[in-house]
Amino acid sequence: MKQILNKDFNIFLGEDVLEKLAETLINKEYSKIFVLMDTNTHKYCWPLFSPYLVNFIPIVIAEGEASKNIKQAEFIWETLLSNFADRNALLINLGGGVVSDIGGFCAATYKRGIDFINVPTTLLAMVDAAVGGKQGVDMLSYKNVIGVFKHPAEIYIYPPFLNTLKENEKRNGLAELTKHALIADKELFEKLIDIPLNDWSKINTFIFPSLKIKVGIVKKDPFEKELRKCLNFGHTIGHAVETASLLNDKVPLKHGEAIAIGIICEAYISKNIENLSGKEFKSIVEYISSRFPKYKQKLNPEELINYMRNDKKNREGNIHFTLLKKIGKAKVDQVCSSDLIMQSLNYYQNL
Ligand SMILES: NC(=O)c1ccc[n+]([C@@H]2O[C@H](COP(=O)([O-])OP(=O)(O)OC[C@H]3O[C@@H](n4cnc5c(N)ncnc54)[C@H](O)[C@@H]3O)[C@@H](O)[C@H]2O)c1
Ligand SMILES: [Zn+2]
Repeated sequence: MKQILNKDFNIFLGEDVLEKLAETLINKEYSKIFVLMDTNTHKYCWPLFSPYLVNFIPIVIAEGEASKNIKQAEFIWETLLSNFADRNALLINLGGGVVSDIGGFCAATYKRGIDFINVPTTLLAMVDAAVGGKQGVDMLSYKNVIGVFKHPAEIYIYPPFLNTLKENEKRNGLAELTKHALIADKELFEKLIDIPLNDWSKINTFIFPSLKIKVGIVKKDPFEKELRKCLNFGHTIGHAVETASLLNDKVPLKHGEAIAIGIICEAYISKNIENLSGKEFKSIVEYISSRFPKYKQKLNPEELINYMRNDKKNREGNIHFTLLKKIGKAKVDQVCSSDLIMQSLNYYQNL
């Protein structure tokens, strides 16, 4: 079992972590244990997980981003209340980023905060969403606008959960995993490039190094004052593309697919204003283009730039970017012209 231990939260990763979780639950003597799942994790992960628990109350919400809202949060709070959860109760979030975001938010606010444990079941949640302490829900068409910072008490990562995850969901996580390598670890990126196309058999070995990058950054800057903004590489343009796709497309892009587009565009901007070398730029474009399907819809630069202006990361009316000086080294709070943003979108579109 691999572990990352620190004062705010502990992370355990491996095929034997569920035994470890069972042990923890016995030692902690929680008054009641609730397990939040969505309909898919109830179907695929619960059968592997439930043998390790005694005395628990399941809470199941519909799968998908549409569940990450205040109505579902109310449903979760009501379930806690109607089962007399006190401040010594525990909520376990068994699921992807949707479950850990809304579950963490509900736990952090119920009776001013009860413990929660994340058991991520998607690649994206294992390397990103379940770790870092950002919890929240969407409102109107804005993602994550209502929320809090609060770390889970512990995180248990059991890679065999990934066996039932669909390939497009694995790709979704791959985008964030690639981002971690690009901002902090060139060698890790080179190892990712070496994975043959469509071969997911080795991806589990990338979870721990990727996680260590995120945890290292979050520990130094938990409230996103400075360093944590590194994690936004690919996300200024990626979020705008994601928002436009959610509003305009019948089958909207997944977060990671939008971030993959953002990575290419923001690497283009990095080449132009941060001297990212032509060679490194090419390797990023080749890697992303070979792993992620090309987005077929027309990108509308004016619409996208409008979304970027509304991004909560901005200050003083400027659109802020995290860019790459080179692979493995990011620079936060960079501003670039609308013209260069448009050029980068054009570059992607003409690939
Ligand atoms: N808090 C953060 O720091 C942070 C970071 C990144 C993303 N997020 C949030 O995470 C969410 C996306 O997370 P996600 O990609 O994990 O999405 P998700 O939770 O919706 O899971 C994706 C799909 O996979 C299914 N699924 C989950 N585990 C499965 C398994 N083991 N087998 C089969 N199916 C399974 C789910 O039911 C769902 O249909 C977004 O809401 C995003 O805003 C949060
Ligand atoms: Zn992301």
